Amino acid sequence: MLITIDDVLTTEELAEARTLLAEAEWVSGKVTAGIQAATVKNNLQIPEESPHLFRLRQLVLGALNRNAMFFTAALPLKILPPFFNRYGGDSNHYGFHTDNAMRGMPDGSGYVRADVSATLFFSEPEDYDGGLLTVDDTFGRHGLKLKAGSMVVYPSSSIHEVSPVTRGERIACFMFMQSMVRDAGQRRMLYDLDMALLDLREEIGETEPVVRMTGIYHNLLRRWADS
Ligand code: NI
Repeated sequence: MLITIDDVLTTEELAEARTLLAEAEWVSGKVTAGIQAATVKNNLQIPEESPHLFRLRQLVLGALNRNAMFFTAALPLKILPPFFNRYGGDSNHYGFHTDNAMRGMPDGSGYVRADVSATLFFSEPEDYDGGLLTVDDTFGRHGLKLKAGSMVVYPSSSIHEVSPVTRGERIACFMFMQSMVRDAGQRRMLYDLDMALLDLREEIGETEPVVRMTGIYHNLLRRWADS
């Protein structure tokens, strides 16, 4: 399942983030890539020791926390602190790769199993050429280039790439998270059920069958979720 969520960041948050991103120092992105991924990764990232990283992460995680659509799609248990990357000039692409399943927390406090990935865009699509995020999975091959402040959420098990940026710069944030529901098929069913219930509630109100179906949603979540 791949979903896009518009306007994850407010206009003010986006403006603040873009100021920080313009001031930040950037280093080679190979530092967070696995062995296979490092061979095809050629972009820049904000290093862990950057003084700008704390506020940038706070902005992104705060926005995720209040986003109901993100919650129901990802059912996040643990989120690895977001990373910020830049594509342009000579460091302009990231070939097809798969992300490592287990990611160490930057502070050494343990591991996060990457079940769900997300990319949040900071550059407007018209400000660069190329830089298409292509996600290839059993649901097909999707090419994405979203407006600034919008996000795509997809399974970490997919193969994906960012094609070369041939004009301008593409700045984005990428995230890995461990879901309360490990299995992508179960997550998909819970998402579909939750979305259908939302529509039903709007169309016919909180009728008794709707209440019973809501109970089924929570009973499935109880059966499948870990905390
Ligand atoms: Ni990746």
